[in-house]
Amino acid sequence: MNKHYLINFLPIGNENTGYIIALEKNKPVKFDIKRVYYIHSVPESMQRGFHAHKSIEQILICLNGNIKVRCFDGKIEKVYELNSSNQGLYIGDMVWHEMFNYTKGAILLVLASEIYNEDDYIRNFDEFMKKVDKLNLNKKEA
Ligand code: TYD
Repeated sequence: MNKHYLINFLPIGNENTGYIIALEKNKPVKFDIKRVYYIHSVPESMQRGFHAHKSIEQILICLNGNIKVRCFDGKIEKVYELNSSNQGLYIGDMVWHEMFNYTKGAILLVLASEIYNEDDYIRNFDEFMKKVDKLNLNKKEA
């Protein structure tokens, strides 16, 4: 199963009234949301992320502006452009991700499946590759 993909949300309303987007368990968030955080005021030249999570799943939503996110699950690499609050980017466990090209005023909202835990981070790319290769090998053997 793909470990990173875009989700289209369902905006309620119209251009006369404005819109509501509701995100709840199974509609369409597949995990229990245990943490919400947001990132703002990132200088355009700044790159963030550069890590994977051992088990945490997240959905990234760009509420304003435009942000690029590179995701790599050990096999598939893709650069997503987040520029609509009608979409979320699902990032599963063991996905190396890098965020860059934050436009001025960009705001990134993140829904996470667990509370903050530094032990869940893999911040070294070589370590990530070793772990992901091992997981893929185990899958083949199973
Ligand atoms: P980090 O996840 O590395 O940010 P990014 O991926 O955007 O580069 O977190 C940056 C710092 O913030 C790090 O010291 C940990 C802290 N932090 C928390 O305390 N709680 C949180 O929920 C998050 C996401 C980060």
